[in-house]
Amino acid sequence: MLNRMLTIEIARVTEAAAIAAATMRGRGDEKQADQLAVDAMRTALNDIDMDGKVVIGEGERDEAPMLYIGEKVGTGKGPRIDIALDPLEGTTLCAKAMPDSLAVIAMAVGGSLLHAPDSYMSKIAIGPGYPAGTIDLDATPAENLNALARAKGVNTEHLTACVLDRPRHAELIAGIRATGAGVRLISDGDIAGVIHTTDPDNTGIDIYMGVGGAPEGVLAAAALRCIGGQMQSRLVFHKATDRDRALKMGVEDPDAKFDMNEMASGDVMFAASGVTDGSMLAGVKFGKAHITTDTVVMRSATGTVRWIKNRRKVA
Ligand code: FBP
Repeated sequence: MLNRMLTIEIARVTEAAAIAAATMRGRGDEKQADQLAVDAMRTALNDIDMDGKVVIGEGERDEAPMLYIGEKVGTGKGPRIDIALDPLEGTTLCAKAMPDSLAVIAMAVGGSLLHAPDSYMSKIAIGPGYPAGTIDLDATPAENLNALARAKGVNTEHLTACVLDRPRHAELIAGIRATGAGVRLISDGDIAGVIHTTDPDNTGIDIYMGVGGAPEGVLAAAALRCIGGQMQSRLVFHKATDRDRALKMGVEDPDAKFDMNEMASGDVMFAASGVTDGSMLAGVKFGKAHITTDTVVMRSATGTVRWIKNRRKVA
């Protein structure tokens, strides 16, 4: 089992990345914002006593100089830990100072995270409290929304689905609207989109549907493993080489439908810090004497969800 002291260490890692990225908030430079977050996250990770390995990171070794897939992080002393990370989720949201850009990481017992390639993934997710099997990735939007409405005890028209605003989702969006349910379109940031389903009273989102990044899918599954909920996914490949890459990365059946528990199977910890203000987390605040961050840390072992508001002195 992961040592619970890691809950503080993991928060330090996302705080550092969020602060670094926030210095570039609203400045229109996605690349630099991401680079600063990557550098800060890597430095913080390398302070932790663990034998860590990045299994979902910034890309393949030849295309990502830092936090690439397979990179060893930590001091090398301590437990073997697999790490999925996204130092700046929603680079465009940060560059435009729009809501819900986050610094995100998941740590898991070695060998328990799906080694998803940097391709796309079809996803469906709902929060906790519904009977198992309420949603099915292969069912139609109407079947899923009607089943969810029955489970929630409301009319389908009272549900809202979160979907990335992309032309590829035109048919999905029409299918959802045909049931009478509403669609919350987001321009980016589907890890937050999935997590928002766990708190529909505050976020107004009941279900997440659509195709987004595969690495983001595994990170979202890690979060739902901790908070509770249901999620299914399937990798989506646009090129034949992507499927080969998935096989090479150890995905046994690249066409399989994955359940949340297959994407993140063992003991998992998840942390996210807000870069920009969002409905889940406040963004970094720079004051005269202090910098304030807002972080959520979750553990699958206990189902604990801990909110950490941290204030550190300006260096
Ligand atoms: P970045 O932080 O890498 O910019 O990703 C943002 C994001 O919106 C993810 O949340 C989402 O999974 C993915 O991009 C969707 O990909 P695309 O923009 O190609 O549709």
